[in-house]
Amino acid sequence: MAELKRFYNMFQPTHYDIFLDIDRESKKITGKTTITGTAKEQNISIHQKDLEILSVQLDGQSLPFEIDNENDALKIDLEKTGDVKLSIVYDAQLTDTMMGIYPSYYTVDGVKKQIIGTQFETNFARQAFPCIDEPEAKATFDIALKFDEHPGEITLSNMPEIRVVDGIHYFDTTVRMSTYLVAFAFGELQSKQTTTKSGVKIGVFATKAHRPSELDFGLDIAKRSIEFYEDFYQTPYPLPHSWQLALPDFSAGAMENWGLVTYREAYLLLDPENTALDMKQLVATVIAHELAHQWFGDLVTMKWWDDLWLNESFANMMEYVAVDALEPSWRIWETFQTSEVPAALQRDATDGVQSVHVNVENPAEIDALFDGAIVYAKGSRMLVMVRALIGDDALRAGLKNYFAAHQFSNATGADLWSALGDAAGIDVGAIMNSWLEQPGYPVVTASVVNGQLVLQQQQFFIGKGEEVGRQWQIPLNSNYAKAPTILAEKKVELGNYAALRESAGTPFRLNVGNNSHFIVRYDDTLLTDLLNDADSLDDISRLQLLQDLRLLAEGKQVSYVAVIPLLLKFADSHSAVVNTVLYQVAGNLKKFVTPDSEQEKNLQDFFNKLSAPQVARLGWQRKANESNDDQLTRPYVLNAALYAKNAAAIAVAHDLFTANSTNLASLPADIRVLVLRNEVKNFGNSRLFDDLLEAYRTTSDASYKADINSALTSTNDLELIARLITKFKDAETIKPQDLRAWFRGVLSNEDGQQAAWDWLRDDWDWLEKTVGGDMEFTTFITVIAGVFRTAERLAEFKKFFEPKLETPGLKREITMDIKVIESRVELIEREKEAVNKMIASIVE
Ligand code: BES
Ligand code: ZN
Repeated sequence: MAELKRFYNMFQPTHYDIFLDIDRESKKITGKTTITGTAKEQNISIHQKDLEILSVQLDGQSLPFEIDNENDALKIDLEKTGDVKLSIVYDAQLTDTMMGIYPSYYTVDGVKKQIIGTQFETNFARQAFPCIDEPEAKATFDIALKFDEHPGEITLSNMPEIRVVDGIHYFDTTVRMSTYLVAFAFGELQSKQTTTKSGVKIGVFATKAHRPSELDFGLDIAKRSIEFYEDFYQTPYPLPHSWQLALPDFSAGAMENWGLVTYREAYLLLDPENTALDMKQLVATVIAHELAHQWFGDLVTMKWWDDLWLNESFANMMEYVAVDALEPSWRIWETFQTSEVPAALQRDATDGVQSVHVNVENPAEIDALFDGAIVYAKGSRMLVMVRALIGDDALRAGLKNYFAAHQFSNATGADLWSALGDAAGIDVGAIMNSWLEQPGYPVVTASVVNGQLVLQQQQFFIGKGEEVGRQWQIPLNSNYAKAPTILAEKKVELGNYAALRESAGTPFRLNVGNNSHFIVRYDDTLLTDLLNDADSLDDISRLQLLQDLRLLAEGKQVSYVAVIPLLLKFADSHSAVVNTVLYQVAGNLKKFVTPDSEQEKNLQDFFNKLSAPQVARLGWQRKANESNDDQLTRPYVLNAALYAKNAAAIAVAHDLFTANSTNLASLPADIRVLVLRNEVKNFGNSRLFDDLLEAYRTTSDASYKADINSALTSTNDLELIARLITKFKDAETIKPQDLRAWFRGVLSNEDGQQAAWDWLRDDWDWLEKTVGGDMEFTTFITVIAGVFRTAERLAEFKKFFEPKLETPGLKREITMDIKVIESRVELIEREKEAVNKMIASIVE
């Protein structure tokens, strides 16, 4: 792509006066934007997209202008440089794409309604007002809004409303900020509000389709998060309020607009009486993530989009730091280990993956380059590694200086490394660059060779990978003092193994705590020693053993057969992390069996064996005062029992359904999905299907919606599947934001796979039009690659997607996904006999 000239180099705005008149009925917007700033050149460009520019005035005089749609530009010859004031009058449109200024649709008591909201990151502010739409172009904003208002509506923006004159809502001048963080919204909203210790007003806003109690949890977390960050960052929250707004239609998960954070309803609102603990944890981490950005991202912003990872990786780490402080009993770092860590390790093992830091010139490339597993999961793991290296005191001291030096301005990754490095007294940048600038990660092989304990690093691949000699600076975190803190070489010898083992008195370990981004391959001597001692391993170590072995098996470095005994060994654990990873790994065995075969029957028996004692221990109903671990473990073991077609489990689930059939939403939230799925699968009929679909359309509880989605997509009735698929394009039933989850559900259902795959191929153009231009789009391909496992599907996948390699933004995803499926097909071919034999021998 041609190198783009940054508009900020030509013109540097200092202040915007924005007036927008929005007519929801006709979807028309008329706008006037006055920009004050300094022209560095006579010929300047200002961003605009899909705006109809009516006039441009310079200091009160009309000027000719030119529209360059290719570059999203309005071009003006100022005939001078220096300080100028430009007034631009224009028409625009409400979009229906969840980008720019867009309506969200919802229903209250059968009446259809909408609220208007905004989404400007990464580069959609230019669809709302002409601006220098680059993160470095920080300015202050005065926003004034008029709309076809009726009584009872509320108007929100980054700053408080200061007056309403002639139906125009005026908001207070913002602090100096980037355009992508500007936001506003209006409609019939309810709210709950409180105030932090330091006097910041906190609010949660939602449509009136929700019960007021659904706002309480978010309000409490938001308040305490702001208090936590003010203390942790030692930097005050600089705005008078922090509003959290739930929007019924939302493309991303949430967005950190300064002072007016927007969320998917599912990530802000919840029923405090009946929501599963993991869902509460998810909502809390999302809120903590966005509020971490209020400083890291909003107060100090990346200079350019190539450092978007810095924003996101950092917020992704801080969400755990904050929630751990707010709710220590949740042990939220364990969730980091079962969600971010495996996501990063899996994705980063495919050759062709991007590095965390990628150069990007054209903002249109940014969305295409946005790989969540890398930018969020791997990036946050990098920062967790830094935090483990320097400790919290240095982290806080470094951040305080970083905020003080760059507040209301911009910074780069290097600025952060130097702030943290100065505070810690080590060269953080040197260590980090090997992780940020290179894709992939190493497997460290630990082996005893001629009596010597030897460590060696090499890039780890799942599927075909080209060895190009990459090396990393690896924080080893060994339990043997002889191992270096950082392994920078390809290979080191630690000395005589017998002597080291003798003096340590415990098996050799690497990556204790699992905070560094690498996996370990112990040779037989070391692994046997470790496993003999398995009873004394803590939960994270058990998780790590299971996770690393599974990855090594996926990478064909060990046999999958080696993983299976460990599942049995840890199956009686009372730890939620161990059980979560255990069933993640066990679930990976499903790919080795053919549906409805003897082998599947054996695998089901194996699942029964794994889960039966825990099912007996935990039962279906929550016990008084039970531990968080038990609450979180229950759904995994019950799910395993249902997969195993355990007759007793099926019967209990059916009874629970029957007993609650008049109010299914009130089933205990943590097992509700299991009960519904069991019913659809084993007792389903067309009426149940219609009832559930109707409940899906009418409920305002996002967790319940997700449960119904999961249940309906699991049906084995082909006619019902066909009916479901007809709903995919019906936004009144399935909102575009939720479509991927429905697609995934049907595709991963053996009986639905063909229909879902046919739908995607037939309706690809529609999909591209509806969710294209949005980073959600490529993830539909990722979903398919996560499911397909046969040579036939691989061939079909290639046939359909290879011709699309040149579609902007799809090349990397398609290329990687072909490798992913290829590798899986080969693995199954190679291992299925041994795996199935092993399973058979266990269940006989
Ligand atoms: N700033 C992002 C959302 C975003 C990123 C929008 C890039 C447009 C381009 C926001 O802070 C975020 O990370 N949202 C996450 C949810 C989060 C809790 C992990 C998302 O949308 O997935
Ligand atoms: Zn974020």
